[in-house]
Amino acid sequence: MTTTPKTLPGATPSLGRQLIRRKSIAQMERDARDNSGHGSLKRNFGVLQLTMISVGATLGTGILVILGDAVPIAGPAIWLSFVVAGFAALLSAVSYAEMAGMVPVAGSSYSYSYATMGEGMAWICGWCLVLEYAVSVAAVAVGAGQYVNETIGVFGIQMPDAISQPPGGGGLVNLPALIIVLLATVLLVRGAKESALVNTIIVFAKVGILVFFCIVAFTAFNAGNFEPLLPMGAAGMSAAASKVFFSYIGFDAASTAGEEARNPKRDLPRAILLSMLIVTTVYVLVAVAAIGARNWQWFDGVEAPLVQIINEITHQPWIALVFAVTSVLAIVSVVLTVLYGQTRILLTMSRDGLVPKVFGEVSPRTHTPVKGTWIVGVVVALTAAFVPLGALADATSIGTLFAFALVNVAVIYLRVTKPGKARSFRVPLYPVVPVLGALACLFLMANLDGMTWLVFCAWMLLGVVLYLAYGRRNSRVGGLNEQAYQLSHQDD
Ligand code: ALA
Repeated sequence: MTTTPKTLPGATPSLGRQLIRRKSIAQMERDARDNSGHGSLKRNFGVLQLTMISVGATLGTGILVILGDAVPIAGPAIWLSFVVAGFAALLSAVSYAEMAGMVPVAGSSYSYSYATMGEGMAWICGWCLVLEYAVSVAAVAVGAGQYVNETIGVFGIQMPDAISQPPGGGGLVNLPALIIVLLATVLLVRGAKESALVNTIIVFAKVGILVFFCIVAFTAFNAGNFEPLLPMGAAGMSAAASKVFFSYIGFDAASTAGEEARNPKRDLPRAILLSMLIVTTVYVLVAVAAIGARNWQWFDGVEAPLVQIINEITHQPWIALVFAVTSVLAIVSVVLTVLYGQTRILLTMSRDGLVPKVFGEVSPRTHTPVKGTWIVGVVVALTAAFVPLGALADATSIGTLFAFALVNVAVIYLRVTKPGKARSFRVPLYPVVPVLGALACLFLMANLDGMTWLVFCAWMLLGVVLYLAYGRRNSRVGGLNEQAYQLSHQDD
């Protein structure tokens, strides 16, 4: 067996050379196997849990809250916006499925980029994933305050803004967001299996209430609400598609469970594709049902539109209560699974030396990265509690779209450079699908506004500074001399 090459004395490569140094897939697999120094992750998950991780991470604020913001942009064609965003996500999802089946480690697209485009792109991708995971989870948790108020509002109680809104949003602290993130952190520290069980139960509940919503809303269906279909033109429909893309973020979460899946090569592709199918079907049905029940202009400025529609149609406060409670739980499961993904990506990055070692220490007792989980949990909890992050949802989308584009490129790269390597799932209609997947991501990125691009550029700049200050000096692959570097690639 080839052992992990140690850093041998020798000249450090130039920055340019270091940025394009790749990590071999064989080395990634060895690292995942050898990860026993501080205890190791445990292979607990089958296809059900993996699918539920992806659905859990995906189905949340996007459909519950952002739908309301997107309808006035698209008009009745909002359901088409969900189809367009879902199609763009699906193109990348099949690329994820191919890569996850081929490189089943915990780093998701960060690892795929490292194996193909080298350390520079891998770092950029990992840094974008922080936007997709840690920042989005804070943005999602912020929405919890709104739904907790909906829930207790049924009893005629309202939490004062001081404790349900962050500073800048009219309050002092977003307590519900803080509590939800900390609860999720405690659960994740206790064990991945326990977390997956709680998540699976919640996913069944949240899909259940959305199906229930559709049934209720269809009783008030008015086909006239769909005319005219495009009052804001095709441009409005596609701008809304970029906005609702946020609701598809997370289908890739299963790919961060590569080292905890029992049969990752077989099950990861299945879980990613199955979750996309479930989520897209639910979203399009909910969008059609919502517009059928209420004229598109009604949505302007309405908070928590789905609860309102249920309430207005049924006039049963207890139904609205169940809906609102499940909505809070839906947010809990997004927070749980997305935090999970972030800790696993950081674990992989720390193994490569690009982030501090503390993120890679796995407790031999719980088989979870306890310290890394606490660090991520506390930082996200404080951010969600004190920063008004709603506006960051778009910045999250742009970072995610960039990471997805890289996965499509990774598929093409490996088909060209390693055509003979075993793949448990192959992207259909290659190369059309990954090329279209990358273009679709760039198209949706281009549709986002200037302010979002500014935030994205600032984020990237910060990432470059961090890499130069830390990652470049501590990178394991970067620190290998030529001989050790070649050795790590010899059986790839
Ligand atoms: N897709 C996740 C949500 O909509 C981020 O909440």
